[in-house]
Amino acid sequence: MPSLVPAVVVPGSLKRAPQPVLSSENDLVLRPWTAADAPAIVDAFQDPDIQHWHARSVESLAEAEEMIEGYAQGWRAESSAHWAVVTPRGEVLGRVAFRTFDLFWGHAEVAYWTRAAARGRGAATTAVRALTTWAFGIGLHRLYLYHSTLNDASCRLALKAGFALEGTERSSILHPDGWHDMHLHALVNPSHLSQATALPA
Ligand SMILES: CC(C)(COP(=O)(O)OP(=O)(O)OC[C@H]1O[C@@H](n2cnc3c(N)ncnc32)[C@H](O)[C@@H]1OP(=O)(O)O)[C@@H](O)C(=O)NCCC(=O)NCCS
Repeated sequence: MPSLVPAVVVPGSLKRAPQPVLSSENDLVLRPWTAADAPAIVDAFQDPDIQHWHARSVESLAEAEEMIEGYAQGWRAESSAHWAVVTPRGEVLGRVAFRTFDLFWGHAEVAYWTRAAARGRGAATTAVRALTTWAFGIGLHRLYLYHSTLNDASCRLALKAGFALEGTERSSILHPDGWHDMHLHALVNPSHLSQATALPA
């Protein structure tokens, strides 16, 4: 069925190239995950907050390797993109991701965690900003994220990275302790906001 609007980002255009390495403030680097990162993922998931807010556990290297393979498949399928946030010395501080993409509409959902020992140093905020710059550079239109209304750190990070609070979805996502109300935050590509919005005649 013909569409009356063009794709915001042409499907197929992302996977033609390898997933890029991105640089961020504070000399942090965002790079694709490799199998060698499996121990860092297992270690990160020993943190009860990461388990709780991401509603999953990773107990073994095999599970972490499976997760990393899923990340690579996400890029190949243009359905998601996951980066390790690393220091110049190669230490993995955390993860930032587009856990979903919809290239036709130009939408993507942001996700993140920082290892417990690396928190409070701005790693997540700078990594999300780097992700945002890349995403708007390839023409995505609207980036959004959800967090539980009880997750104050995630809310603060979202606001610092420029994602305005748009509202609360009641009893939206199941966590290990039950259903949580979720804040929706979003950031629209500033270069698209200057384009005129058509009004009905
Ligand atoms: C949320 C998370 C990714 C933040 O990572 P981080 O690298 O510490 O983030 P930053 O250092 O960039 O800090 C972001 C802001 O959050 C604030 N913050 C951190 N912990 C906080 C808390 N418990 N309550 C309120 N604000 C908090 C920081 O002070 C900072 O704001 P400021 O600069 O104005 O002081 C990290 O806490 C985490 O991984 N939590 C567990 C997993 C998780 O919640 N993932 C997100 C699921 S939606």
